[in-house]
This record gives sequence, C-alpha cells and structure tokens, in this order.
Amino acid sequence: MEICRFLMYLAIIFTLLVEESTATLQELLKGFIVTPNPTVKNFQPILSDSSGDFSLSFLRVNQDQLALAIVHVPSGVSLWQANSVGLARWGKPTRLIFNGSLVLSDLDSGVFWSTRTEGDRVVLASAPNLRISKAGKSSSVLWQSFEFPYDTLVENQNFTSAMSLVSSNGLYAMRLGPDFIGLYAKFKGPGSDPDQIYYRRRAMQAKASIIQGAGPILLRVSSDGFMGIYQNGSIPNDVQSFNSYQRSVSGPRRIRVENNGNLKGYYWSGSSWVLDYEAIPETCDLPSPCGPYGLCRPGVGCSCLDNQTQAQNGDCYPKQEIGDLCGSEENKFREIRRTGVEPPYKELMGYTQTESYEECEKSCMMNCTCWGVLYNNASKFCYNVDYPIQTILEVGHENKMGYFKLWEVAKKKRDQRLGIGIGLLCGAMIVLGFVVGFGVYKLSKRNKRFKNRILEEDNINATGPYKDLGSSSFGSVELSNR
Ligand SMILES: *[C@@H]1O[C@H](CO)[C@@H](O)[C@H](O)[C@H]1NC(C)=O
Ligand SMILES: *[C@@H]1O[C@H](CO)[C@@H](O)[C@H](O)[C@H]1NC(C)=O
Ligand SMILES: *[C@@H]1O[C@H](CO)[C@@H](O)[C@H](O)[C@H]1NC(C)=O
Ligand SMILES: *[C@@H]1O[C@H](CO)[C@@H](O)[C@H](O)[C@H]1NC(C)=O
Ligand SMILES: *[C@@H]1O[C@H](CO)[C@@H](O)[C@H](O)[C@H]1NC(C)=O
Ligand SMILES: *[C@@H]1O[C@H](CO)[C@@H](O)[C@H](O)[C@H]1NC(C)=O
Repeated sequence: MEICRFLMYLAIIFTLLVEESTATLQELLKGFIVTPNPTVKNFQPILSDSSGDFSLSFLRVNQDQLALAIVHVPSGVSLWQANSVGLARWGKPTRLIFNGSLVLSDLDSGVFWSTRTEGDRVVLASAPNLRISKAGKSSSVLWQSFEFPYDTLVENQNFTSAMSLVSSNGLYAMRLGPDFIGLYAKFKGPGSDPDQIYYRRRAMQAKASIIQGAGPILLRVSSDGFMGIYQNGSIPNDVQSFNSYQRSVSGPRRIRVENNGNLKGYYWSGSSWVLDYEAIPETCDLPSPCGPYGLCRPGVGCSCLDNQTQAQNGDCYPKQEIGDLCGSEENKFREIRRTGVEPPYKELMGYTQTESYEECEKSCMMNCTCWGVLYNNASKFCYNVDYPIQTILEVGHENKMGYFKLWEVAKKKRDQRLGIGIGLLCGAMIVLGFVVGFGVYKLSKRNKRFKNRILEEDNINATGPYKDLGSSSFGSVELSNR
C-alpha cells in the first residue's frame, strides 16, 4: 500500500517534470523567468503561438552564443530576432525575464535587450508577431515585434519608412525612400557618412500614383505572392510579383536581406523553404560578390583587381586590414591602375564629368576621402568611390579605366605580426624562424598567381528563373560574420 502511494507520487512528479520540459507556454505572465538549457542543440522554445508553428525561442548561434528569436518550428529558421547589444552566452548567467518588460540579461554583464514596457502579458500571435499588452478590458498592445523587424519581413507585416531590415552580418540594409525601395551597404565604416545605395526599385505607380505630401509609403508582402508598395488605402502603387504570384502556397511567405546583400523571397512548401524572388539575380550585380579589391566578370567569376595581391583565404584584400586614408598615421597607399573596368551599380554612384582620364585620376589622388575613380572615355563620367574599394566589374572595354588606392601601412603591420607569431612559435630557435619565414615567403610568392574562381550557381530548390546564389557556392560573398 505504502509502496503503491509512493509509486503514484513518483508518477505524478514524473509527469509534471515531463510536462514542464516539453509543453511550451502560450502566454507569459509577470514573474516569468527562463535560462538556457545546456543540452539544447538548435533552439529552445519558450512561448508558442496557437498553431505551434512558431515559437519565441533561445536560438543557438556560433555554438555557444544565444539570440532571442521567433523561430519557424518545422524548419528552425529564425523570422525575427531581438536586436540586442551583442549576443548573450548560452549558459547559466543568461536569463530571460518578464517583469512588465521582456528583459534578456546576463548576471555578469547586465542587460542585453529590453522592451522597456509595463505590460501584464506576452503572447505570440500567429502572424508571427510577439505582443506585450495590458490586462483588463482595454487590452492595448504596448509593444509588438512587427514594429522592430530584424532581417526578415513576413507576409502582412507593414514595413514603414521608419524601419530598416538589416542583414545579420550588419553590412546591408533595406529602407524605403519617398517613392522607392532601396538597398544600402555599410562600406564606409562606423562613421558619419551615409551608406552607399546599390539597388533601387522605384514604384511603377501603374494603378495609383504616389502623391507628394500625402504621407509616407509602406511595403507589405501579400499572401497572393507579391511585394506591394502602398501609400494610402489598399490599391498598391507598385507590385513586384514573385514566382508563385497568385498561387496559394501552404506556408508563410517571407523576404530577407541576405548576408551577401541580396533581397530574397521564400515561401514554405510544407517541407522546405522555396526561393521565389530575388531582387538581384546576377551575381556580379551584388554589392561585393568578390570581396574588397575583387573583380567580378559576368558569367565567369572572381579574380583580383591587383595581380600582385592574389586571393588569401579567398579574399583579395583582408577587409579588417583596411584603414583610414585620412587618418593621422602615415597614410601610405599603393596605386593600382586597370583598364576594362567599370563601377557596379553605376547608375547609383556619384560622378563628375572631366575632359580626360588624367584629370579624373588627379581629382582622386590628392583627396584622402577618395579611394578610387572609374572613368568612361566615351561619356567622360568620372565615378568617385569614397569608401574602401569593393568588387569592381570587369567589362573589357578599353575605354573604361580605373584608379584605386590600396592602403599600405596595414599590410606592413600584418607582416610584422606574422613575423612575431613565427618567432614565438620557434622560441629561441631564431634561425629556424628565419627558415620558416623564408619558406612562407616563398610559398606565398608561388601562390600569387592569377586565379579565376568559377561561379557555381547553386540551385537550392529554386523554381523558375531564380537561382540561389548562396554564400556556400560563392566563397567571398559573406564579408563578415557579424
Ligand atoms: C525589470 O527588470 C529590469 C532588469 O532587471 C529592470 O531594469 C527593470 O526596472 C524592471 N522593470 C520593472 C517594471 O520592474
Ligand atoms: C498595415 O497597414 C494597413 C494600412 O495602413 C492596415 O490596414 C493594417 O491593419 C496594418 N497591418 C498590421 C498588421 O499592422
Ligand atoms: C487617400 O488620399 C486621398 C487623396 O489625397 C485622400 O482624399 C483620402 O482621404 C486618402 N485616403 C486614406 C484612407 O487615407
Ligand atoms: C593583370 O593580369 C592581366 C592578365 O594577365 C593583365 O591583362 C592585366 O593588365 C594585369 N593588370 C595589372 C594591373 O597588372
Ligand atoms: C574629396 O572627395 C570627396 C568625395 O570623396 C568630395 O566630396 C570632396 O569635395 C573632395 N574634396 C576636394 C578638395 O576635392
Ligand atoms: C579616349 O578618347 C579620346 C578621344 O575620343 C582618344 O583620343 C583616346 O585615345 C581615348 N583614350 C583611351 C585610353 O581609350
């Protein structure tokens, strides 16, 4: 009898434990607290929507770091992330609490992210949209994740001119202008300068015109398979249709600013995400497909602007070594001249007109904010690049030429560091160090050969003309991992 009761208690405790660890909550109330579970590999659901398709989760990133994310459960793809100051650790000191605000913090390093609200409950609506609201009759929404997009926009989410979608590596962003969608790159470093625009889609205004002063536009992905620009009412000022236009699809649609600067659209087929829209279908039209000081030849692939600095680890020039030409340090730079090149997205680049190439080059040489110029001998356009040189287009026309500055001080420092490294490794055996150094030098010389990487167009579940030019197939597409 006694044993029976004991077993019953055990069973009850066991069910309670199991329930606590598997069932995801549908609502968070004040006093809620959760810490990351060390055994979870991909994501740890915290709060679920009513369908169970989405959950607010701890998402594992870079092995031991954590992001607060809304995850599409069947695929594990993140559709929203808290835009926190840095990433938290996947470990005990990290915790998410709800005390009126959702707060992600680390007991050691403090608050990473907070909604700064005084709400009563948190729910995940099936859009998916995370909402914090007040209790009671006027259950007003105080905060919603729809207003703070990360790199993704889901269908029916309003994207306004006050928002931006930023790629997860922080380099590329989508924003709205008065009558266009723009994609911008952060090539200028953390400074005051505005970002470089590399893609612009002006509203066609076929069915409704955009009226100046009648309010800002907004962008929305429709479940009918298009991306619409709206100013007022429901008639779109612009429609960009996806491959699956007016086809009903089983799962949600989303668009995302990718780490290579493209804007892509996907829908969930029930078993996988299908790519059905790409803003920039040609690889060489991406903002920097071959990395800094790279050269992209349409249909062929990547090489380097400078034949003497051939690709190291897939990059023509290590971007973290790029300095400031206007800095106080001796700003030495090497000059590269090359014919048969033109700027990418040239219709969006600033230019002046000069009578000759020499004049164009001279305007850049003496100006420390100028990193290079590209000249077209036919139009006399002198395009000015005021950020460290990214990928340039190789076109082969002899009347198009370029002049580029390559920061040299950084290269010297790098060689010094390499020397110190080798020295330490060899300890007192300086002689051996020299031998190794010499060997490395010889090797790197031998590797300085002109190499063309062929562009492979990786077709991940693409329907129609859109191909996924994913980062895996295109070595230096990802300029950094955040
Ligand atoms: C909730 O917790 C955070 C972090 O501990 C704190 O800064 C904030 O003041 C708290 N908010 C309320 C309403 O207690
Ligand atoms: C998006 O904006 C439209 C028009 O302003 C509005 O009717 C709709 O409710 C908004 N949708 C959401 C989810 O906020
Ligand atoms: C749309 O714009 C027209 C013209 O400016 C205006 O008369 C109308 O009230 C607007 N409608 C809405 C829903 O804002
Ligand atoms: C680099 O090599 C290519 C092909 O060998 C040649 O056409 C080009 O002029 C060279 N460029 C420079 C800057 O040396
Ligand atoms: C230097 O170049 C920048 C653009 O890179 C331009 O705005 C500025 O006017 C130039 N300065 C001079 C003195 O030419
Ligand atoms: C540029 O054009 C001028 C006049 O059309 C011509 O004389 C000159 O040779 C051209 N330069 C180059 C490098 O093609």
